[in-house]
Order: sequence, then C-alpha cells, then structure tokens
Amino acid sequence: GTAQIGVTGLAVMGRNLARNFARHGYTVAVHNRTYARTQSLVTEHGDEGTFVPSESMADFVASLARPRKVVVMVQAGPATDAVIDELVPLLEPGDIVVDAGNAHFPDTVRREQALRAHGLHFVGTGVSGGEEGALNGPSIMPGGTAESYASLGPILEAISAKVDGVPCCTHVGPDGAGHFVKMVHNGIEYADMQLIAEAYDLLRQGLGASAPEIGEVFAAWNTGDLESYLIEVTAEVLAHTDAATGRPFVDVVADAAEQKGTGRWTVQNALDLGVPITGIAEATFARALSGSAPQRAAARGVLPADTLAWNVPEPGAFIEDVRLALYASKLVAYSQGFDQIAAASAQYGWDIDRAAMARIWRGGCIIRAKFLDRITQAYERNPELPLLIADPYFTAAVSNGVAAWRRVVAAAAAHGVPTPAFSSSLAYYDGVRAERLPANLIQAQRDFFGAHTYRRVDRDGVFHTDWSGDRTEQTW
Ligand code: 6PG
Repeated sequence: GTAQIGVTGLAVMGRNLARNFARHGYTVAVHNRTYARTQSLVTEHGDEGTFVPSESMADFVASLARPRKVVVMVQAGPATDAVIDELVPLLEPGDIVVDAGNAHFPDTVRREQALRAHGLHFVGTGVSGGEEGALNGPSIMPGGTAESYASLGPILEAISAKVDGVPCCTHVGPDGAGHFVKMVHNGIEYADMQLIAEAYDLLRQGLGASAPEIGEVFAAWNTGDLESYLIEVTAEVLAHTDAATGRPFVDVVADAAEQKGTGRWTVQNALDLGVPITGIAEATFARALSGSAPQRAAARGVLPADTLAWNVPEPGAFIEDVRLALYASKLVAYSQGFDQIAAASAQYGWDIDRAAMARIWRGGCIIRAKFLDRITQAYERNPELPLLIADPYFTAAVSNGVAAWRRVVAAAAAHGVPTPAFSSSLAYYDGVRAERLPANLIQAQRDFFGAHTYRRVDRDGVFHTDWSGDRTEQTW
C-alpha cells in the first residue's frame, strides 16, 4: 500500500481528522463500518487531498505503507476494543495503532501492553478542540513509545494547531500518559467552565444584569489576563437570542449540567493519588448537584435563605472584583491540575514535562488561553516547581487579586449565591499557605479513638498517648 496514514471510524471527529491529514498533503486511507459514510467523505471532500477508501478492514490495512499508521476514532470503551481486535490480526510488527478517542487511561495501559505482545505500537492519544479543532488544528497529546513517536510525531505535529509556529503536539510519555493528560485537561475544562458560570451568576444576581449585558462583560474580559477560548465562547453564548421565544438563549436552557465522564475520572484518580484538586472536584460535583432533581425539588422554597439583599453601589468595582476572583480561582484550578500530572507521572513512571503540556495547550484545545504561556515559562524556569501559584509571576498575580477574592466569596455567602469553585479555591489557597493547619487536632483525635499515633513538632519519632489509661505518652 501507499497511504501514509489511515483513519477508521468516520463520524465527525474521524472525518475531520482524515480531512486535516489530506489537506496537509498526506495520502489518507479511510474506512468506516458502514461504507456509505466512507463514500460520502470522498464524494464531498475528495478534492481536498488524496483519500484511499476501502470497504473492508483488510483492504484498508493493505492500502497502508509500512510501518502502517492507523488512527482509530470510534467511541471510547467496547467499540475501541472491537476495532482493535479486528485490526491486530491484519497488522505486522512495527505497525502503529493510534487511539484518538477519549479513552480512560487504564484502558490505554492495558491495550498498550496487549499490542506490545504482538510487536505493535499502541499510541493512546488525547485530541482536544472538538470538531472544529480536528479539522483545522487540534491540540494532540500522544502517549506510547518514543520509537513510535519518531515516525508518527511529525504527521501529528503537521496537523496540530500552531502557536507562534510551535506545534500543539508533543510526545507526552509511555502507555497511558497521553490519555491521562487529556483527562486532566478535561478536568481543568470543567473547573474553568464552573468558575465562569459562578462569575456569571454573581453578576446576574449582584447587579441584576441580563445575559447579553453579562456577555459584554465577558467580551471585555477576553481582552485581558483572562483571554481564552472558553471566555470567548461564554460571551457569544450570552449574547445569543433564542429564535423561538426572543429571550436570551441561556434563559431557555435547562439548568442541569451533564457530563460524559472525563471529569469524574479526573476526580477519581486524584482521590487515588491523594492530590487535592478541589476546583475540579467542586466543578464536577456542581454538575451533579444541578442534576439532582429530587433533592432540588425537596429543597426549593423549603430551605430558608436568610440572606441579605444585594446592594452594589459601584457596579464597576464589583465587576472587577469578580474578574480578579475568577482569575485567582482559575490559577488554583490549574495549579492543582498540574500537581495531579506531577503525582501521576511519578506514580506511573511517565516522566511528563509539565512545561511541554502547558505549551501544547496554548492552542487548539478547549482550555486554550493566553496565560498558558506563563505556565510554560514557570515550569521552564523550574521543572521541579512544587506549586504553580508559588512561581513568582503567579504569586504576584494572585496577590493582586486576593482581597477582591475574599470580598467576592464573602458576598456570595452573605447573599446565598452558590460559588463552590470560587470558595473552595480560596480555601485551598488559605490552606496551602497556612503556617499551621488544624491537622494537629485530627491527629490527636485519631490517636485518641484508634491509637493511630502522631508525630511531635519538637522531637523525632512516632508517639501514642495512653488515652484510656493514665495518659502518659509512649514512644511507638
Ligand atoms: C475537547 C473536549 C471534548 C468534549 C468533552 C466534553 O477537549 O475537545 O474536552 O473532549 O467536548 O469530552 O465533556 P463532557 O461531555 O464531559 O462535558
């Protein structure tokens, strides 16, 4: 065969990736379970480059130059396993199977191991940027062997987004590292979205502003430190009018947030690793709360509010406070997400370069933002940086907003506006910077009821107090 890369699974993401490869001059083998979809791709977009359509998986594989590079773009889960099972007997040692779906990283670790036994490379790859990104330049996060990246990487880099000429694609690390990093990307995406939603709610309730008015605030914010795709999207969504009712579009959208699972996976993994990603966790739980219909029905009009009435004498100052609180909370969420990447990298032996991750998230992906440049620089200055918000640039940025952040969280509490992500991020900030935390009391309690022992501030060793006896201290 002659095709340089193949794509199987031609729903919108696979279709757009195939077109992106073709537009970059690659000869692209294309295959789909139902052949009609393959045919329609070639009919509609055949003029964009060179496609080699095949009806059967065997012909598809045969149409590829060796070592073969097959991108699988099907639904994560059993569908991915089914396609892999069909592919493996048709492939030869050295061939590369790329899973570009949103797989859960433990599945990727398992599949990589299984394919390695056949002499095949399995590259679990995060792809972010939705349909538009897949076509015009996504952020790409490939895992797998360095050897596979040597031949596959240049092709993926060619079709990725570019920022200042730098591709938003790099080899993340072995086996599940690529899908892991994509998972954390999505967790951060959840936190970003929740923080934006809380800012919107505060402006709405605090100022009594309409959706389009708040849209203008977001559009203005998008010209400063907060400049990012999600802020831009928010401004557009808030400005949109529902055709059927003539009302602001967001006012006719039901307030129950859904998810496909990547945020949940991020939180589950953070619990396993013991990394406090409170911003992402609160964002994920906030979606769950919004969808808790029976609980919300039971509480509505029953649980007293006992709140103060809003009185915002200086709307401009309030808007600026909310902006600063949003930025500070966002920094905390990213800082926590990067901590999780560091912990996973150590735990699973991945050696992930955090500066490189921030670099490939600057463009193409859903969380793309101007300030990711600053994160890249922080990790370049110090690859071992233990806490992102303790990097001098970010410390200065947070210090600038911390008073506003406190005012906003206090106002939210006083007026009964739920701001779980703003509030928990501030609590994390105060926790992580505390000279001394009340964990001393937790340790004392644990020792009291369970003889779980404690350490002392003044002496090395492990101790236990004989609480039920004469309360003398024993060295454990
Ligand atoms: C991306 C997005 C993409 C998808 C999310 C949505 O990076 O392009 O993150 O992967 O839009 O999976 O996630 P939820 O449906 O869980 O909100």
